[in-house]
Amino acid sequence: MPRSHDVAAIAGDGIGPEVIAEGKKVLEAAGERFGFDIRWRDLDIGAERYLRTGELLTEADLTTLGGCRAIYFGAIGDERVKPGILEKGILLSLRFHFDQYVNLRPVKLLPGVWTPLAGKGPADIDFVVVRENTEDFYVGIGSRFKGEEKQALEVIRSLYQVKFGVDAESDAEEVAYQIGVITREGARRVIRFAFDLARRRGRTPPKVTSVDKANVLTDIYGLWRDVFSEVAKAYPGISSEFSFVDAVTMWFVKNPESFDVVVSPNMFGDIITDLGAMIQGGLGLAPGGNINPGGTSMFEPIHGSAPRYRGLGVANPMATIWAGSMLLDHIGEHEAAAAVLDGIVRAIASGVKTRDMGGQAKTPDVGDFIAAFLRNP
Ligand code: IPM
Ligand code: MN
Repeated sequence: MPRSHDVAAIAGDGIGPEVIAEGKKVLEAAGERFGFDIRWRDLDIGAERYLRTGELLTEADLTTLGGCRAIYFGAIGDERVKPGILEKGILLSLRFHFDQYVNLRPVKLLPGVWTPLAGKGPADIDFVVVRENTEDFYVGIGSRFKGEEKQALEVIRSLYQVKFGVDAESDAEEVAYQIGVITREGARRVIRFAFDLARRRGRTPPKVTSVDKANVLTDIYGLWRDVFSEVAKAYPGISSEFSFVDAVTMWFVKNPESFDVVVSPNMFGDIITDLGAMIQGGLGLAPGGNINPGGTSMFEPIHGSAPRYRGLGVANPMATIWAGSMLLDHIGEHEAAAAVLDGIVRAIASGVKTRDMGGQAKTPDVGDFIAAFLRNP
């Protein structure tokens, strides 16, 4: 009897179904080669169902997903739905519901991939961003009010009064605010994950860089820094440093080789990983894992649903296939995970490159090549 894994698949919108189809193809081939079987549980979560039924995530969805070790997620986002509805109602809801507090995003330039950083190669661009995934400005606490909503306005007015000693009444025609939250436990668990990861990566010496803006947002990132310093003390063999988020964007470009593990609060982590994706060859090559080490984790490409390219067969499935490799690693299929990443490298070396990489390959060519390589290395 082969080992068997229950994995949910949410192909989603736009190019999601095309890239997930390739990812499944590759993971199945990996299973054949390494002796395991994936039982796919396909869910029709996404824009189509939302437009038809008004449902984003149902209780039944959550039960099915909760019964799986991992979720393989394509992309969501559709031009017929107002921005924010699917993102918050599906992707962010899943991250929060399953308490996937680590968003793990490798920034690794594979051999044969073009980077916009002149003079840098695969030996220079190889680090991991550990993005906190359940707190910060993503907690969804905020509001927006017009002048006539007196009570709410009163709150803002007194905030202005306390902070600046001014009466904001004249400017308060419309006000919006959104709150960022960091908790000691929330910061601690993700920062510990980053240090453990640095230890496993085994660079000499291992290093963890903390990203924040503690010079301005002194409350939330002051707490983040305190926790980082405390955790760092428990890992004496690992060197550590702080970097402000604005500076870190500069260093990613100038000295990417100086990074090993980078740990960041949620929103800055979102921003710097798009930059990370660009230096590793673009969004078509940037995978991510939303991880709850003790629960249901979810693996996805960082890119969105790219509705303009839907159905054209030009999307690059490599980010999704790489996310599949991370999924395999997460469920304990380490050898298969490494072979899948190796398969991506082989595809690139053989010139199987999609349009975004300057090649001619179509979406299915990539999955076919890597699946064939896995069956017949
Ligand atoms: C990402 C995306 C999401 C985020 C959006 C779509 C909610 O940009 O995964 O990086 O902000 O986390
Ligand atoms: Mn993003």
